[in-house]
Amino acid sequence: MTITPSPKVRIFDTTLRDGEQSPGAAMTHEEKIQIAELLDEMGVDIIEAGFPISSAGDFEAVKEISRVVKGSTVCGLSRAGFKDIDAAGEALKPAKRPRIHTFIATSPVHMKHKLQMGENAVLEAIGASVTRARNFTDDVQWSAEDATRSEKDFLCRAVEVAIHSGATVINVPDTVGYSTPQEYFDIITMLRERVPNADKVVFSTHCHNDLGLAVANSLAGVLAGARQVECTINGIGERAGNAALEEIVMALKVRRDIMPYETGVATNLLSRASKLVSNVTGFPVQYNKAIVGKNAFSHESGIHQDGMLKHAETYEIMRPEDVGVHSTSLVLGKLSGRHAFRDKLEAMGYQLDDEAFGDAFKRFKDLADKKKHVFDEDIVALVDDEIVRGHDAISVRDLRVESGIGVPPVCQMTLSINGEDKTAKTTGDGAVDAIFNAIRELYPHAATLQLFQINAVTEGTDAQATVSVRLEENGRTVTGKGSDTDTLVAAAFAYVNALNKLLVKREKQAPEALTVAR
Ligand code: KIV
Ligand code: ZN
Repeated sequence: MTITPSPKVRIFDTTLRDGEQSPGAAMTHEEKIQIAELLDEMGVDIIEAGFPISSAGDFEAVKEISRVVKGSTVCGLSRAGFKDIDAAGEALKPAKRPRIHTFIATSPVHMKHKLQMGENAVLEAIGASVTRARNFTDDVQWSAEDATRSEKDFLCRAVEVAIHSGATVINVPDTVGYSTPQEYFDIITMLRERVPNADKVVFSTHCHNDLGLAVANSLAGVLAGARQVECTINGIGERAGNAALEEIVMALKVRRDIMPYETGVATNLLSRASKLVSNVTGFPVQYNKAIVGKNAFSHESGIHQDGMLKHAETYEIMRPEDVGVHSTSLVLGKLSGRHAFRDKLEAMGYQLDDEAFGDAFKRFKDLADKKKHVFDEDIVALVDDEIVRGHDAISVRDLRVESGIGVPPVCQMTLSINGEDKTAKTTGDGAVDAIFNAIRELYPHAATLQLFQINAVTEGTDAQATVSVRLEENGRTVTGKGSDTDTLVAAAFAYVNALNKLLVKREKQAPEALTVAR
């Protein structure tokens, strides 16, 4: 008997491009590399690493990701203009498998009001852009921006020109999240049936979530014959976001009976990827989020708990460990040594170099001194914090805070700034305000505070707090993180971490404005 393998659906992750376009989700260079490496390890087929013409930072990130990624195809976005395409081609040079993704809008509303171009001019731009991109690589993806609101005949014509000019992947974005599963199914079917040579290319879905239908629409596209799905970790992206990668991958895995397609994604890394992206962006994952939410595998009602104890399949369609969720375990304590700590990190999928390991171990020991039980989640917070922190120009050397009822809070803080220690004593409207005032006094800056958020890493009053601080300066946004058993210390770490990221961003200014339409 011969077993025919199921057709493969390629997973195209755009967390670092469309995901980073979410307001406030800006990531540093190091964070992007860290996410790309994890996506590569997960077996994501294509990583859209950025939009190289948009800023020097994006260009460098695409270049570096091209260098470090081993298995995945690395993709760079470009509009139809030659400058865009050349920048993408240049940034992708170090990649083993480079892909240029070029796009132009095809809907009447976009062509008239945004591009101010007629149909013929758009068709010409498609031909020219795809041809140009093919000079750099044989793997060229073309997208019809706002495809779902485009006129059908014109969309078919545009796709025909793209294929004729050498596109190998045709992406059909539901840019404004307007479509529905049946309609999206019909559009993909129509393109596959009507466009000459449609069988020579891979069709791709790219669905936004404005009506909460991104995943459903993407799966309808797969059923209609699309063999690539564009998605992001935790579904982050413009406005209401994109189709969530973890939901697409698990829906295809759990419902193979009616959607017999394979993805190459190692699903046991989904939870880690979700935590990393949430940590880096400061966007919390909603508790009831499918697959990766805190409550996705908890059973609260008595009837459900009773059913679960009798047989897990009564209320569980997938096992938590399939997505990398392990029941909270007491892992290490005060007496655990380097060996046990390294084993634990490896079991959790972390590979740190000696220096990073040494720093993480020291922080683990400090934590174990303060906190009786150290859980997996504590270790994730600790190590991610270590990676995010990097080599900072500013660090917290000392912090003392007095506060209480009827007394003004007072903060005395010492920061090391470029190797020099400076101390300030400040007050504020509360203890956190006093701390932030001290930082502003010691390192004056114009950035404004956009978000201050505290999350407990585990349960219990000795739990570590993870604080997120988002700062904005001249349109640049950064999110800093800090973890400690003392919430005020975590707040100081988070603010200083955000400032360090801002310093790095300032060094990487955008060379080109993004206003060039073609
Ligand atoms: O939503 C969209 O249309 C896009 C394109 C650039 C593919 O993100
Ligand atoms: Zn998009």
